[in-house]
Amino acid sequence: MEVKTSLLDNMIGVGDMVLLEPLSEDSFLENLKKRFDHNEIYTYIGSVVISMNPYRSLPIYSPEKVEEYRNRNFYELSPHIYALADEAYRSLRDQDKDQCILITGESGSGKTEASKLVMSYVAAVCGKGQEVNKVKEQLLQSNPVLEAFGNAKTVRNDNSSRFGKYMDIEFDFKGDPLGGVISNYLLEKSRVVKQPRGERNFHIFYQLLSGASDDTLKKLKLDRDFSKYNYLSLDSAVVNGLDDATSFRTVKNAMQIVGFMEDEIRSVLELVAAVLKLGNIEFKPESRCNDTDESRVRDKNDLKEMCELLGIEQTVLERAFSYRTVEAKLEKVSTTLNVAQAYYARDALAKNLYSRLFSWLVTRINESIKAQTKSRHKVMGVLDIYGFEIFEKADNSFEQFIINYCNEKLQQIFIELTLREEQEEYIREGIEWTNIEYFNNAVICDLIENNQNGIMAMLDEECLRPGTVTDETFLDKLNTVCAEHQHFESRLSKNSKFLNDHSLPHSCFRIQHYAGKVLYCVEGFVDKNNDLLYRDLSQAMFKATHSLMKELFPEGNPSKVNLKRPPTAGSQFKSSVGTLMKNLQTKNPNYIRCIKPNDKKAAHIFTASLVCHQVRYLGLMENVRVRRAGYAFRQPYGPCLERYKMLCKRTWPHWRGPAREGVEVLMADLQVPTEEFSYGRSKIFIRNPRTLFFLEERRRQCLQDLATLIQKIYRGWKCRTHFLLLKKSQVVVAAWYRRYAQQKKYQRIKSATTVVQSYARGWQARKLLRELKHQKRCEEAVTTIAAYWHGTQVRREYRKFFRANAGKKIYNFTIQRIMQKYFLGVKSGLPSMSPVDKNWPARPYRFLDAAHAQLRSIFHLWRCKKYRSQFSQERKAVYQEKLEASELFKDKKSLYPSSVSQPFKGDYLEISKNPKYQKLNSCVEEKVLLADVVNKINRANGKGASRILLLTKKNVVLADQKTGQVKASVALPDLISVSVSTQNDGFFALKLKEGSASAVKGDFLLSSEHLIETITKLHHIGSTASDDGEQLDINISDEFLVQFKQDKVCVKFIQAAPKNGNSASCKRKNNRLLEVSVPAATA
Ligand SMILES: Nc1ncnc2c1ncn2[C@@H]1O[C@H](COP(=O)(O)OP(=O)(O)OP(=O)(O)O)[C@@H](O)[C@H]1O
Ligand SMILES: [Mg+2]
Repeated sequence: MEVKTSLLDNMIGVGDMVLLEPLSEDSFLENLKKRFDHNEIYTYIGSVVISMNPYRSLPIYSPEKVEEYRNRNFYELSPHIYALADEAYRSLRDQDKDQCILITGESGSGKTEASKLVMSYVAAVCGKGQEVNKVKEQLLQSNPVLEAFGNAKTVRNDNSSRFGKYMDIEFDFKGDPLGGVISNYLLEKSRVVKQPRGERNFHIFYQLLSGASDDTLKKLKLDRDFSKYNYLSLDSAVVNGLDDATSFRTVKNAMQIVGFMEDEIRSVLELVAAVLKLGNIEFKPESRCNDTDESRVRDKNDLKEMCELLGIEQTVLERAFSYRTVEAKLEKVSTTLNVAQAYYARDALAKNLYSRLFSWLVTRINESIKAQTKSRHKVMGVLDIYGFEIFEKADNSFEQFIINYCNEKLQQIFIELTLREEQEEYIREGIEWTNIEYFNNAVICDLIENNQNGIMAMLDEECLRPGTVTDETFLDKLNTVCAEHQHFESRLSKNSKFLNDHSLPHSCFRIQHYAGKVLYCVEGFVDKNNDLLYRDLSQAMFKATHSLMKELFPEGNPSKVNLKRPPTAGSQFKSSVGTLMKNLQTKNPNYIRCIKPNDKKAAHIFTASLVCHQVRYLGLMENVRVRRAGYAFRQPYGPCLERYKMLCKRTWPHWRGPAREGVEVLMADLQVPTEEFSYGRSKIFIRNPRTLFFLEERRRQCLQDLATLIQKIYRGWKCRTHFLLLKKSQVVVAAWYRRYAQQKKYQRIKSATTVVQSYARGWQARKLLRELKHQKRCEEAVTTIAAYWHGTQVRREYRKFFRANAGKKIYNFTIQRIMQKYFLGVKSGLPSMSPVDKNWPARPYRFLDAAHAQLRSIFHLWRCKKYRSQFSQERKAVYQEKLEASELFKDKKSLYPSSVSQPFKGDYLEISKNPKYQKLNSCVEEKVLLADVVNKINRANGKGASRILLLTKKNVVLADQKTGQVKASVALPDLISVSVSTQNDGFFALKLKEGSASAVKGDFLLSSEHLIETITKLHHIGSTASDDGEQLDINISDEFLVQFKQDKVCVKFIQAAPKNGNSASCKRKNNRLLEVSVPAATA
């Protein structure tokens, strides 16, 4: 349940001055002081918020505070600026009423801070989202930019706004911000060229010099030292608590967020630099022959730098400072300027340049922040305008006059709107209303702004009048026109009434403003109102190549010469204030009246006289009186009943009927005198604060009783709840314990039962086993007895036959049994079908030895047959060759075992496929059975030469390996034998039939890698080729003779240690001996 609180809870003093009792200036001040001392800086007068400047940061602006005040009724919480902002925002969003927040007070009272607090509150509570946040950020960031250019340190305020600002924030129907429009009012431009003692120029100058990088300063042709610039006052250039360098970065960043382009920021800074440079231009007199003074620029360096910065021709500007051209209709007259006039012209240019730059900044910001959609907007205006200003003695000038006029107008609107609203509320609620007396400052406004004889109209008239016009002639005029006005005083007007007032100097006039009397010195009024800038200067500025500069001085365009005088500063201001007032009147006003507690800018100090003065001129006492004239306090029936219903038994705790009836019952029950209150349509109006305090006191007492009651009931409820909880817990615990105990008991019984059961079953089983065993033994005994009996019977019956044939039959039977068992055993123990498998079942009986061996050989033959039957013709031929090789070489030549595993490929050269041997292949007629590379041993030195050996059915052909040319062809019948060694070498000699055609060159001694295959094939073909079936002779011996042409040479094979690998080497020993060293075969 939401807790309903009220402004009246924990109040320090009274939160709403309307409730002050008794109401007097002293009690008013005392209440303010009491609250101020307790850090309560906000106090209400009805819906108006009085804000005291605390001059220190208080922890009352945190996000938690924002949440606290969000969507709460105005009087629900202690007074706060957030309550006002929330009320205004919610009326705007929910009731579609445009709002304006008017913040007034004197300089340094906290207006600007208040306006920022309102804006930040609204930003925090309104809608969120990327677009909306961007708009909010831009609106908030426009403040630092405008403050840098429009605020300055004054004696009253270190961050004094030197311009008036009114900002319209636009919202859509949901209450999300869409954009804004800023209006600025009359920048105090005289500050640019001269600052009063203890004050500074506008912040931006100091920020630029302290915060800009060396590079930027160099580009702007500036020096960091403030003392180099005539326009910067030095006595308070550094302000405590202001970090100009950091502020400069903040301002640049803010400009970027608002949407300024880099070159725009650069242009703005260039113009600021130009103003500084302008201040350093000095003039010296130069006499001319016709006795008129003429000025000249003293040191042209600054002028030159300024011209470079802005792209102005130096001579043009120099001339503009020396001459003044006056154009009238068709005439153009040029006069020289003396030194004083030149200085005047320079300062006028600086002031104009800066104030136009400021207005341009506002326009540029407006461009960025303006709402993008054209739909109807709800508007919340925030007005932060310079406060009422009264300088001591006669230091008040045209600016103060203008500022104070604006404040008069605001006071007017305040009076009008507050009273009107009050009145309207009474009418709305149907309450009788009697008019109350208050001071209406309309008469002062009239004195200033009246179009016929108002001070401003007089000033304008004087400015436009031909002839000599001075400030004195203006004062004379005022003396004639306004002397009779009750709020106007001057020495002359007093004198005419025979009053001698020495506090009124001759050159001054005094206006009795609503906020006090102010003495204005007329000096400068005419000039400032005229606000003249010599045309030569504006034309010189227009000639600049700097685009922003050009834009600021459009009147300098020679093609658009306008001979009409521009409107005076006063009339411009008057019309803009008029527009502002009209604008404010269409909106629902919310007031924040700021008060400055002391002149020292110090925390905790409350200077009663100063506050009293402000209370008076802000008309706060009147405000309270007006508010209380009718009824001091009002409250809608619902909240009123809610707050006080505990004071009457009939309304407590719930009232079922309409709220108004409930309040009526309540008031009747409390016996409040009927003249003390009135019933409106939706609110009850309480005339006297005493009545409210009576209700509050009763409520407080009642609350104490109720608190005790609630406490009692709560304690009872708490104890009972605790008891019930304990009871419930006890039942649960008991249930669990019982369950546990029963579980345990059950498990015990269950295991005991199992034991008993197992014993019983064991006993039964053993009993059964005994019985079964006994039964079985009985049956066995019976069978044995029966068998013996039958045996006896049979034996007795067959004894006579048995003796004759028994032996033979038993023998045959036994033999049959044994044979049967033997064959079955052989069948089951047969070895595998591999012909090389040597396994065979062991012999079971010795008498079966022969049969067993016979069976083994039969089985072996049978499986060999099976094995052979799988072979193809080719494989058969291969095996045959392998068999033949085995027959020829097995156990005769040590090379043989290594050849067994090598398949006989025959054609190692792939002679028919290889194109290299195509020619050779074509020379041989028959099919080539073997083609291999062999070495032909040279008998002269025993070295080998590679030859291709081809073997066909009829010939042995030797051909050159490289060329494929046939070297020798031996017909097989001419070959009588082949000799090979017993050793592990590939040498062989082909012996030819003596006298045959092939034997002309003698025998061949060759060596082959495939010796076994070659010789086997030779042997096989040789035997098939010979007509008489004669076998080719294979001679295996380690010494044989070879016939080389005429010589017979003995080839001898000896075993040698392995050298250069495993190959055999042949050496010629002498004419008759070739020795072949064969490395011993490695195992
Ligand atoms: N609510 C606040 N909390 C803390 N300090 C404050 C508050 N209001 C104002 N101040 C302090 O007072 C100083 C002056 O306030 P501010 O600039 O708002 O005055 P102002 O009324 O706008 O004056 P001017 O009319 O000269 O512009 C601020 O710089 C700040 O130090
Ligand atoms: Mg301000």
